[in-house]
Parts: sequence; C-alpha cells; structure tokens
Amino acid sequence: MNMTERLHQCADAVRAQLADRAFTPKVALVLGSGLGDFANSEIDVIASVDYHSIPDFPYSTVEGHEGRFVFGSCRGVPVACMQGRVHMYEGYTPQEAVLPLRVLRLLGAEILFLTNAAGGMQPGMQAGDLMLITDQIAGFVPSPLRGENIGELGVRFPDMSEIYSRRLRGIIRQSAAGCGIALREGVYVQTAGPQYESPAEIRMYRALGADAVGMSTAIEAIAARHCGMEVCGISCISNLAAGISPTPLSHAEVKAAADAAAPRFKALVAGAIAEMG
Ligand code: HPA
Repeated sequence: MNMTERLHQCADAVRAQLADRAFTPKVALVLGSGLGDFANSEIDVIASVDYHSIPDFPYSTVEGHEGRFVFGSCRGVPVACMQGRVHMYEGYTPQEAVLPLRVLRLLGAEILFLTNAAGGMQPGMQAGDLMLITDQIAGFVPSPLRGENIGELGVRFPDMSEIYSRRLRGIIRQSAAGCGIALREGVYVQTAGPQYESPAEIRMYRALGADAVGMSTAIEAIAARHCGMEVCGISCISNLAAGISPTPLSHAEVKAAADAAAPRFKALVAGAIAEMG
C-alpha cells in the first residue's frame, strides 16, 4: 500500500467512528505539552477516536502524551484535536510524524493550529511565556516531503514564504489582547532530539535568528502547507534554553511549566478559534 492509499484507509477508519459521518472539522488543533486537557474542557465532544483503533497508525510512547483524535465544537467552530502527537525522537520518520495531520486534511480541515512546549532563547524570555510563531527553521531535520510526492495533497516544490499565516497571526494577537495575555513573537527552530541542546548549539540557533527551540512542530507546518492548509502556531516557553537556564533541563520541569501556563494558553487558543469560524 502506498502512502496515498494508507492516508485514505486511515481517514475512512476515522470517519467510520464519527456518529455524524458528514462532520467536517474546520480547524485541526495539535495539543502540545500542557494543553492536553484542552479537549476535555473547551470542546463539546461528538467523538473521540483512539489512535490504536486506526489501522497502521503511529502512536506516541512519551509519558504524558495521550493518543486520540477528539472531534467536536469549540465556541461554535467544528474542530479536530490531536491529543498526542508522535515525534521523530521516538524513531518515527518525518513522514510518519505528519501522517495524522494529513488524515485530518483528508477529513476536510482547512486550518492547522499547532501548539507545543519549547525552550526560550529570546532576550527577556521567561518560563511560562507564550510565543506566537512567526516563522521557522527546519534545516536541522529531514523534510517530511522527502520521497515520492503525494500529488493528491500538493506539489513537488511547495512555496514556504508564508508558512504561518499573516491572517491567523492577526486573529491570535487579537485574542491575546482580548484576554489580557502578553504574547511574544518569534522564530521556532526544530531539532531532532530527544536530548536537549548544548549551550553552544543554543548560541548557534540564536545567531541564526531563532527565538524558541523544540522537537515537533516545523515538519508538521511544512506538511500542512504542502497540502494547502492555513497554518498558525503558539509555543509555550516551558524553560529557558540550555546555557541560558541556570539549572539543568528536565522533562519534569518542562511538563510542570507547561501545566502552569495551561489556563492562559487555553483561553488564548479558544479565543482565537472562535474567530476562525
Ligand atoms: N529544547 C528542545 N525542546 C524543548 C525544550 C528545549 O529546551 N523545552 C521544551 N521542549
């Protein structure tokens, strides 16, 4: 089975579990660390589809990452949440890591809303800050578009000159202002992980123009642009990056800081989605 057939098989398996077969999500929302319970509090759920129930579907092995699609309505807007994503550091290829969002595209999603936890390196940043992603650096990880092009989704050489939609960035800024949330803006760089960076690597990323570093999002944004989705993203700065942070980094610290920022993060995301309908 080639990738096109596999994507359709997954999409058919998911649709079969939707009570309303005609349900079409407008926004696909990827819930990163700390935002996992967004689906429990901000969505009127119509269906929850476990990744394990979908044939040949990648699922996460990371502690604290669940694995299901949650379909429903967020402030009146039809959404599909990915509660849990898979990462390259788990051994998945970039092509596997972007398979779930491509399935949501086949189910009709037009917008991809990415969230993550990331290490901050912009001067003045503090753990708990929220950063609107304005652009990205993906040159340190392989492209999810490597290999035969999936012509049904997009072209061989897709343009990446506005990965993060100017329109959606405007909506998110307005949502932040409306909620009284201070919002930073900056460039996200993706590493393959799973190790955190060395201080020398952070100095390099900083010199290259990056403001936050993480292990998930840039390949997803590339795949989404390839298949014609409008993309936006927010990073929760869960820690200062290595060499800037006075203490060694730990997954527990990252999770705790992301959890502490969750109420603000949820309000910002829900407020923005309300304006995307
Ligand atoms: N580096 C990479 N990924 C991360 C970090 C970090 O400091 N924090 C959360 N995800």
